Amino acid sequence: MLLNVAIWLGLGCGAGKDTGIDCTNPPTYTTWTQGFLDGKCQSCHATTAENRHGAPPNVAFDTETMTNEWKDRIEATILNKESMPPSGGITLEERILLEQWLECGE
Ligand code: HEC
Repeated sequence: MLLNVAIWLGLGCGAGKDTGIDCTNPPTYTTWTQGFLDGKCQSCHATTAENRHGAPPNVAFDTETMTNEWKDRIEATILNKESMPPSGGITLEERILLEQWLECGE
């Protein structure tokens, strides 16, 4: 019985999310993510973008709050489907930092 509880608790603590990501010194929105989004995404996604190239009006990363609402889709489009940016160009280092921010950053 005690053992079962221990196993259950163990699983509750992040198993399934155990992606082997190093969380010792993760980037934050301010130290990294904001600049990354400005450079790679905001030409199409900012609310102020002159030409969105068809990016949906609600998908915008102007502020930390707006960006946080899209974390799941940012993970899906950049890390899983690799569909954003449409022309590609995400470096390995950027992938690693993005994963760290999504999994352990603020
Ligand atoms: C050249 C313009 C352009 C750039 C740069 C761009 N996007 Fe997009 N984005 C689009 C267009 C067009 C769509 C709508 C069509 C689609 O979903 O593929 C879209 C849709 C999205 C969506 C919503 C679709 C979904 O599956 O949830 C997300 C999230 C997204 N982009 C994230 C990003 C991120 C993050 C970056 C930067 C790494 C980025 N995009 C860079 C044009 C762009």
